Amino acid sequence: MSSERRPSFLAAHVDRLAGTHLRELLKDATRGKRLRHRLGPILLDLSRQKLDQAALDALGAHVEASGWQAARDAMFSGQPINTSEGRAVLHTALRAGGSQLPSPAPRDALKEIDATLKRIDALVKAVELGDASAYGVAPGITDIVNIGIGGSDLGPRLAARALAPYHVPGLRSHFLTNVDGQSAYELMHQLDPKRTLVIVVSKTFTTQETLLNGNVMREWISRAYDGDQAAVSRHFLAVSANVAEAEKWGIPAAQVYPMWDFVGGRFSLWSAVGLSLALAIGSYNFHELLRGAALVDDHFRSAVWSENLPVLLSLVEYWNRDVQGRGSRAVIPYADLLTDLTSYLQQLEMESLGKQVTKQGQPVAQPTSAVVWGSVGTNAQHAYFQSLHQGTDVVPLEFIGVVKPAHDLIANHEALLSNLLAQAAALALGKTFDEALAEAKSGTDEERRVLAAQRTFPGDRPSTVMLLDALTPESLGALIALYEHKVFMLGHLWGVNAFDQWGVELGKSIARQILPALDASGAKSVAGLDASTQALIEEIQARRKV
Ligand code: F6P
Repeated sequence: MSSERRPSFLAAHVDRLAGTHLRELLKDATRGKRLRHRLGPILLDLSRQKLDQAALDALGAHVEASGWQAARDAMFSGQPINTSEGRAVLHTALRAGGSQLPSPAPRDALKEIDATLKRIDALVKAVELGDASAYGVAPGITDIVNIGIGGSDLGPRLAARALAPYHVPGLRSHFLTNVDGQSAYELMHQLDPKRTLVIVVSKTFTTQETLLNGNVMREWISRAYDGDQAAVSRHFLAVSANVAEAEKWGIPAAQVYPMWDFVGGRFSLWSAVGLSLALAIGSYNFHELLRGAALVDDHFRSAVWSENLPVLLSLVEYWNRDVQGRGSRAVIPYADLLTDLTSYLQQLEMESLGKQVTKQGQPVAQPTSAVVWGSVGTNAQHAYFQSLHQGTDVVPLEFIGVVKPAHDLIANHEALLSNLLAQAAALALGKTFDEALAEAKSGTDEERRVLAAQRTFPGDRPSTVMLLDALTPESLGALIALYEHKVFMLGHLWGVNAFDQWGVELGKSIARQILPALDASGAKSVAGLDASTQALIEEIQARRKV
């Protein structure tokens, strides 16, 4: 990164640390005291980040001077901190029931949230008992299909998979997201329409993908009932802030569960957006998830910066992104159950923080959201870790592990954890040329040198390790809330609005312009579109006829 965009108050620390390898920093056995923290079921280890005490203190002084506590309190109390939309940001109020601290959220919001949670609990119980007719649901449901995209999909999808060991027997969950008809087509061939409950989740109830998939599923169920719409409606529930639109679409108001403007889509797992999850894992576990998140909310509201895990995570990200100039961060869960964590975080972090102007409309002073990417270990080791160890770019990593697995294949689990720990160590320590040379036993001196150069690992590559005691509803709730508050803190430090997403609009409106020109008749004009788009549409239309 060009040095003029680097926060100048950290320049001395950057220069000092540039000459110190992580291998050296890790020789200090007391280092972990400041950089390893436990919060309930989560251990956060930042000791392999390329920071020392003095750099951390400078970052701490920066955050303390930033007024972060007042900004945080404004969020918790429902101030309209989403300024470009004039909205409060109250996802924390959704789990306030699990909090030990009195909630500062507006009473009305808390009342509505409580009433909705009670509706969810009652429905979940009725479905478990096999008769949810009082809630408008057909008998004999075996499969739940959550239709939604972005925040209306990623949270419930992540949690449903992560908590598979907690699933209520006899009920299967499916997630229909993409507008690519292939997924709907496959689901319809797999499921029985008379035993399927579809939950259409859309905060706005205007999202193209969700409505198209909803239509497809409705026609499929309708065919099974010879068009009897009263019977069809018993296979649909909706979750939306736009009840009128959901009703117009054909879902009775009593079967619509509310969302609110004060909850952003990517922060909405804790609301009725998590209905398919609550049905999958049962009410008790859903409340445990909320309780885990509330534990982190309380911690975020009360801990000093130097012990506050979301604050520390944000400072490490700030350090890597803005001071060290790292453009991406790889998230590697060593848990197949957390397969969907990376895509969840992509929306949470990149939709929230991928901004280039401040809340005041001025250019930001430093780079914002890093690209978040990754996939589960150990698979990732056999795909792109070569580049992470020896490539020319330094990519900070986040390793997430689970101490106690949900199965009894202990040898597998020990191998899994040993790989996680080994990767973090290898990335930090590396292997010097001399060490590699000592290992090269045969050949001429020149041949040994050539080989050693290729077998040298630079090391000095930073990573964070998070260890969950076990993957439970509580620990998952806590983990997600940690990331949510980290995002809040980065939005605050960067001066951007982390709660709007204007950047997704342009593509949507161009797609609306293009759609008519893709009409199968080929008769619609492509006029008004740019030359490249026109050419591609003409090519698609021509190929369709072949
Ligand atoms: O396109 C982005 C987005 O608006 C996300 O922010 C949101 O989570 C997703 O689309 C789905 O929106 P909705 O819940 O309104 O269908």
